[in-house]
Amino acid sequence: MARPRTAPRSDGRLVCVLGPKGGTGKTLTSCNLSVALALAGQKVLVIDLDLQFGDVALCLGLPPEKTMYDLAVSGGSLDSDKLHDYVMSHDTGVDVLLAPARPDQASAITIELLRDILVVARATYDFVIADTPPGFTAEVIATIDASSDLVMVGTLDSLSLKNTKLGLETLGLMDYDPQKIQLVLNRADTRVGISQHDVVMVLGAEPNVFIPSDREIPRSVNEGVPITLSRPQSYAAASFHDLAGILVGRSTANGEAIAAAASGQAERGQSRSLFRLRRK
Ligand SMILES: Nc1ncnc2c1ncn2[C@@H]1O[C@H](COP(=O)(O)OP(=O)(O)OP(=O)(O)O)[C@@H](O)[C@H]1O
Ligand SMILES: [Mg+2]
Repeated sequence: MARPRTAPRSDGRLVCVLGPKGGTGKTLTSCNLSVALALAGQKVLVIDLDLQFGDVALCLGLPPEKTMYDLAVSGGSLDSDKLHDYVMSHDTGVDVLLAPARPDQASAITIELLRDILVVARATYDFVIADTPPGFTAEVIATIDASSDLVMVGTLDSLSLKNTKLGLETLGLMDYDPQKIQLVLNRADTRVGISQHDVVMVLGAEPNVFIPSDREIPRSVNEGVPITLSRPQSYAAASFHDLAGILVGRSTANGEAIAAAASGQAERGQSRSLFRLRRK
């Protein structure tokens, strides 16, 4: 069936989700943030830029029927209609441009093509969420340069905090506006002898959103159903709604209402009081 075509627009937000090291929760955050934004009425595209080992398809339970590789080898110029032909649709309405199915296909995605994809995607969607591989690879730097917002994901341990600080310093060297960076602390309730005060001292900034450790998260990843859908009442799900609310609030000024509505549905366990959420 033909997909509905969308009128061109030019003001979509590009949110680059990054973390200097592997396994901090970037893909978890990208997928759940996307679902939370879609539930808040936003038109969302996720792009899996972990070109060799992309996990977004698994996390969202999507078969890799069409990928960025198919788009790359199709030839011709790129426009909104063509982009639509190569995205997969999730039940929530989130569109997904999947990473190549095999590592050897990754080199087909040139930086020029990536820049084109990002421009067309921003002209088509309210939010484009880019999940990235660890570190500042060429495609990550190109996406940072093109982005309107950054979500930096770190975890609560000294090695991750050190690398998150280095990542923030690198963004500073790139002259990235710190006001556009949302800091997400994952596994934030882990008891590892690091206090919230320590986190602020090391990073020089207070995290905007805290995600707890939750055994339902790996289960949701294994089942291919984001925790925002499988456990919508959980504290973890509320954290992703908080992040979506912050991002939406910066463009529509109703993020507080969305976050409050989403948070109100969540069971706030005692661990929530461990941290003071800060919203811009
Ligand atoms: N808060 C959490 N509670 C429990 N498990 C978690 C949590 N955050 C992440 N995980 C688990 O840690 C693993 C890594 O998460 P994820 O894939 O999102 O990290 P990543 O930063 O994308 O990794 P990579 O750098 O390899 O792409 C996953 O199996 C996920 O289920
Ligand atoms: Mg990942």
